[in-house]
Amino acid sequence: MLSAVERKIEQFIQDVDSVEVHTLYKKISKGKMLRARLIGQIAGKSLLSIKLASVVEMIHMASLLHDDVIDDTVVRRGKTSINATNGSKIAIMMGDILYSKAFFELNKIDSKVSSIISNAVISLSIGELNDVNLSANFHTDKSAYLKMIYQKTASLIEASAQASALLVNKNSLPYKQYGRNLGIAFQMMDDILDITSDEKTLGKPTFNDFSEGKVTLPYIYLYEALDECDKARLIALYKKPLNQSQKEWIKKSMFEHKIIQKAFLEAKILINEAVELMESCGEYSLSNIAKAMIEREF
Ligand code: FPP
Ligand code: MG
Repeated sequence: MLSAVERKIEQFIQDVDSVEVHTLYKKISKGKMLRARLIGQIAGKSLLSIKLASVVEMIHMASLLHDDVIDDTVVRRGKTSINATNGSKIAIMMGDILYSKAFFELNKIDSKVSSIISNAVISLSIGELNDVNLSANFHTDKSAYLKMIYQKTASLIEASAQASALLVNKNSLPYKQYGRNLGIAFQMMDDILDITSDEKTLGKPTFNDFSEGKVTLPYIYLYEALDECDKARLIALYKKPLNQSQKEWIKKSMFEHKIIQKAFLEAKILINEAVELMESCGEYSLSNIAKAMIEREF
């Protein structure tokens, strides 16, 4: 499935008929293609499912090109990002081209599928807007964080699962719920790995979230657990580039207060629900994808 999707995206890029776009596309490293894998698993391998998966992966690629500009990030999936090599203007335009071509193709698939996916793109864009707004000041608003990660990350995964179920006339409800849980847990894991992993494994810098102003779940829990003096110490590090000893202090404090376990448990609850749901539908490959998600290291 995944190599067929890669070939289809390549063909869509060739259709655009621009050497520059093709050269830029070649510079973007392929990710885990989680959304395409889900679509293939739910809808099976057909021309329509390959097209849907290609469209969704192109939208996801476009959103990451824009996100790296917004977050001022220079490394993505182990490679220098497009905004760093070619500048933000080119990265934004390349995102727009991928996104527009994806929509051109999406339109030809099915009107219900098309409205589910386009609705998710509105949601992920609002999610990114909320991420930017929440990053303006230090906060400890867990429900705002959960809503934002649902919108920013889970909405497109949820829509991919729902739309691919519809494509093959399956009852889309359990797949939609599965995609939602998987997506929220995926972002929670992303936010945990920012603290616990290393740049080589992750393919992007670590300890970046707090410096970028993002107060993720582990930081919300850490703040709640610290005494007044350490609360002030944590706030003093907010939005600052962190040196080694500051990173060590955050790690040590998280360890002492069992913060990573607490955040991990939240993701695990969502994954367990997703696993049970898929096992009740006899979808063991999908439940295995969910189990692997919680064990991922990058
Ligand atoms: C990564 O978050 C960002 C997203 C999952 C979504 C970003 C969405 C947009 C920029 C809207 C795009 C709109 C269109 C129309 C294409 P992150 O910064 O937490 O993750 P990271 O650490 O991988 O960068
Ligand atoms: Mg980012």
